[in-house]
Amino acid sequence: MADNSRIVLAYSGGLDTSVAISYLKERTGKDVVAVSLDVGQGGESLETIRNRALACGAVEAYVVDARDEFASEYCMKALKANAMYEGVYPLVSAISRPLISKHLVRAAHQFGADTISHGCTGKGNDQVRFEVSIASIDPTLKAISPIRDLSLTRDVEIAFAKEHKLPIEQTEKSPYSIDQNVWGRAIETGFLEDPWNAPTKDCYTYTDDPAFPPVEDEVVIEFKEGVPVKIDGRDVTPLQAIEEMNRRAGAQGIGRIDLIEDRLVGIKSRELYEAPGAVALITAHQELENCCLEREQHRIKRDIDKRWAELVYDAQWFSPATQSLNAFIEDTQKYVSGEIRMVLHGGRAVVTGRRSDASLYDYKLATYDSGDTFDQKSSNGFIDIYGLPSRVAAARDIKFGNAIEVPDNTVE
Ligand code: ARG
Repeated sequence: MADNSRIVLAYSGGLDTSVAISYLKERTGKDVVAVSLDVGQGGESLETIRNRALACGAVEAYVVDARDEFASEYCMKALKANAMYEGVYPLVSAISRPLISKHLVRAAHQFGADTISHGCTGKGNDQVRFEVSIASIDPTLKAISPIRDLSLTRDVEIAFAKEHKLPIEQTEKSPYSIDQNVWGRAIETGFLEDPWNAPTKDCYTYTDDPAFPPVEDEVVIEFKEGVPVKIDGRDVTPLQAIEEMNRRAGAQGIGRIDLIEDRLVGIKSRELYEAPGAVALITAHQELENCCLEREQHRIKRDIDKRWAELVYDAQWFSPATQSLNAFIEDTQKYVSGEIRMVLHGGRAVVTGRRSDASLYDYKLATYDSGDTFDQKSSNGFIDIYGLPSRVAAARDIKFGNAIEVPDNTVE
């Protein structure tokens, strides 16, 4: 076999990508290498997935436990950026695609492939994220999607699997399209495509119903330079921090999200998410930034956070623009160290305390009690100068008859 003539396939172990292995081989003549990552999605073991890939005709199966890498290098970047696309979606799928892409490229180089494949349709963000991420790492690699480019549909899949005696159970198809990892879970399609339909209980697995919460749970999270390092005094790795907060915030029904979202390809889609750990950690991290970032740095960072989330949502994880924002965000985190106390209860993570050696909150400046060091009289001069443009403009507006109207208080 000639060098670099294989295809590496992002392989989940499910029906679509299992069939895709021999389907790709049949349609392109190329051998397929299956690539599977554990990013904390739970479910089957990597060993089971590897064996199924080989049984379905893969020539090699590349499997990696990437949970720590994902948590430390991807989720923590999203946390430092308080990343919430359109204000609410913590970029669950969007941050896993670049990591999977990196491993796909590594496997392509290791096993001699010139083409990368994935099970995405032609309608979503994930195809763009895979292919743009891959192109950013190795622009010589080609991409092919069996569903989008080779008309692999559900009916074809089932017939093909039967005909080729592929070892896959034809279980009832889940009514939803689901993507999950340690940062959260995305649920779409099925009856959710009618945006008036309320989510049903079976949509959720990371969170319990917030309407019937257990007793409230108080937690203290200690951050060092923007990263959680202790929970209730116990050392944690980033992965452990996310897992523990998924458990504790999930039990309180925190982090359920339901929205119409703007996809990169221009479609509006109805999306459900549950991301209990991500939502609780971002709430805590953001409050610590409220204490530790200087005012202008803080204001700029909130704008940067929003742009970062949009870029990463839009498949730009490896782009020069995102890298430049990463440098800014990283620089802002050097004083984001300290503790946040939160109460988790009934669907909400509420901050009730914060303390930090690097905090810019100054009791002596803030207090209304004795011990005040703020010279209130200096505000007179400040307001004179700060209000000067408004005063000059008001005089002009009055001259032109455009004074701001003040309702008179005559009672009729
Ligand atoms: N709309 C979300 C995003 O673009 C979730 C995608 C989830 N993928 C899936 N196959 N269900 O990030």
